[in-house]
Amino acid sequence: MSATLLKNVASRRTIYALKNELPAGVTLKEVQETVQAIIKDTPTAFNSQVNRAVILTGATHKKVWDQVVKSIDAEDGKKRPASVRDEAYGSIIFFTDDKVTEKLQGDFPAWAAAFPQFADHSSGAAQITSWTALETLGLGGHLQHYNGYVKAALPDKIPASWNVAAQLCFGAPVEKPGAKEYIDNPVQIFD
Ligand SMILES: Cc1cc2nc3c(=O)[nH]c(=O)nc-3n(C[C@H](O)[C@H](O)[C@H](O)COP(=O)(O)O)c2cc1C
Repeated sequence: MSATLLKNVASRRTIYALKNELPAGVTLKEVQETVQAIIKDTPTAFNSQVNRAVILTGATHKKVWDQVVKSIDAEDGKKRPASVRDEAYGSIIFFTDDKVTEKLQGDFPAWAAAFPQFADHSSGAAQITSWTALETLGLGGHLQHYNGYVKAALPDKIPASWNVAAQLCFGAPVEKPGAKEYIDNPVQIFD
């Protein structure tokens, strides 16, 4: 069990080269159910359940990422969001709900300053678990942070209190991940 988990953790990699399709046998519903389960079971401070996510695909994915491209002035800076618009099948937008964070701050004033960071920690856990799970389904993905641009371009139905944390862009992988270098970084035991 543990070996499988560790293999999956190591197999999650950044893959920028994506095709605008899902791998054979994978459905969007499966992606949705996977992310839904992860949002449900990722722990949150005081079980506040601060995480939110939506999946963009099709015309909405294209429209949002096109607006991100147009919001960036530098030609070089447009390249990554343009590749997401044109090559990714979809993007999972992760949020933390400021309403939940503000309620926690009111209920537990002694911890008030920590709650935004706790929300980010939990969102990060949901992001990386989702990234790992999509890899096990055979998808490729990469994580982006065009947060303000994305927020400005999202459908109106998304509550204003949902604070954009990250975008996990996904599709069928076109290439294997490159070699990765590791530092010498042992976890020591002190007893
Ligand atoms: C918290 C976090 C933020 C990241 N932000 C970005 C980002 O904004 N853009 C990007 O292209 N990659 C981003 N990455 C991807 C990292 O660059 C990548 O995970 C790292 O180089 C290790 O490579 P690997 O994902 O293949 O293991 C981020 C990764 C993490 C964990």
